[in-house]
Amino acid sequence: MNQTLDVMELKQRFAEAGQAQVFRFWEELSKEERARLLDRARQIDLVEVDRLVKAHVNQTVKEQNSFEGLEPAPYIPFPQHGGDAAEWARARQAGEEALSAGRVAAFTVAGGQGTRLGYDGPKGTYPVTPVTKKPLFQVFAEKIARSAERAGAPIHWFIMTSEINHAATVEAFEEAGYFGLKEEEVHFFPQGLVPAVDSEGKILLSDKDLIAMTPDGHGGSLRALVRSGATAKMTELGVDCISYFQVDNPLVQCLDPLFIGFHLLGNSELSSKMVPKAYPSEKVGHFCLRNGQHEVIEYSDLPVEKQEETLEDGSLRFVAGSVAIHVFSRSFVERLGGGDGELPFHRADKKIPFVNADGEVEKPETPNGIKFEMFVFDALPMAKNPVIIEGDRTQDFSPVKNAEGIDSPQSCAEDQIRMFTGWLSDAGVELDRDESGLPGITFEISPAFACDRADFLTRWAKLDEKPDIVEGTVIGG
Ligand code: UTP
Repeated sequence: MNQTLDVMELKQRFAEAGQAQVFRFWEELSKEERARLLDRARQIDLVEVDRLVKAHVNQTVKEQNSFEGLEPAPYIPFPQHGGDAAEWARARQAGEEALSAGRVAAFTVAGGQGTRLGYDGPKGTYPVTPVTKKPLFQVFAEKIARSAERAGAPIHWFIMTSEINHAATVEAFEEAGYFGLKEEEVHFFPQGLVPAVDSEGKILLSDKDLIAMTPDGHGGSLRALVRSGATAKMTELGVDCISYFQVDNPLVQCLDPLFIGFHLLGNSELSSKMVPKAYPSEKVGHFCLRNGQHEVIEYSDLPVEKQEETLEDGSLRFVAGSVAIHVFSRSFVERLGGGDGELPFHRADKKIPFVNADGEVEKPETPNGIKFEMFVFDALPMAKNPVIIEGDRTQDFSPVKNAEGIDSPQSCAEDQIRMFTGWLSDAGVELDRDESGLPGITFEISPAFACDRADFLTRWAKLDEKPDIVEGTVIGG
């Protein structure tokens, strides 16, 4: 197509969509700046933007959620909480067989902006282990390598980035020699971006030639997996199970045979781990059943009386908290990500730097813009045979979200030390602990030595010379 016409047509389409302001500074732009603006503008799905604005910006009355008949979603409890020990054993075996058959890939969503942590760089490069300060990506790489070693089969790792951190992420892996993994077994792909809008629904410019775009949420991973060709690659590799986790949680068992086994035995399209809520109003999603369908309801959407409701024995009724650990079947991702059953978008009000009508960049003090995100757990109601199993928070979940306080680098390092101390205790090595479970020394167990408690117990038992556990010890490091 004629380039000039192409430009005119594009501007015309934006004008017709009520978004002519995107080209407001066109006459002032250099050739390169125009090219940059056009490049971004061409990526924007104006129909989607229009739909989002109508639903989330113009529509001021929030649809009333009906919680009538809402029930807690059932889950498979640990044997010590009433589950069937034989079923857990069968699940472990099924998971181990699937891993050995090369049917499982690890999948990390790492496209977020990590604004709360305030770290300059991809979050996966943030140092997290207590002694050696390994970055998150290295922790996962070592766990994946160890799982592959145990399975006796390669395990491919898919990592979703966003355009904002893609190059820096790939560079970090290159510099670190892929953290010991084979380059051809690590696959990166960027997720989609959606333009941010102002309170009138007008697309914001973050510079005269730059449209303000933000990643489309972890739920965007489903369509990105398909659009990027990642699911096609999985088909080629014989992978039909996708073990999903988030980049900010170094405790996660990246490839838990038990969890994978339950997913397969349940013929499930989407399986999830729950952990019991730490306290009634904990800010997590709740696994629920609404009209017989599974769904995760965010704490902010669930009425307080439901969050706090108790059973006769005083335990919480809606106890199952979501920790963003899932197994997807590849065919389910292909179906949803391929467009059959789109995930809903959610609105988030954010401070978004923008260019004002005079062409000056403003950094707002209060939220001025709206970004749109999809949440991966919104896939749950569309999944056939969803399976939820009990998980143990101390072995699976301690994210790094904030610079300080709850879910911070410090709380996460302490949780790692508590977990390692527990593993040692299970192996018969008792360290003095304070009432919070901390031993008063900083040490770590390398994920390359053991990727979970069971692995640790086996390997520790086989060690001829057991190290003293003192300040700075790194077991297997
Ligand atoms: P969070 O919800 O914690 O968001 O992401 P965030 O962007 O990392 O951090 P804040 O809110 O700006 O502080 C949970 C997980 O989902 C991924 C993140 O990388 C993290 O692993 N994520 C989030 C994406 O991959 N893409 C997104 O668009 C959003």
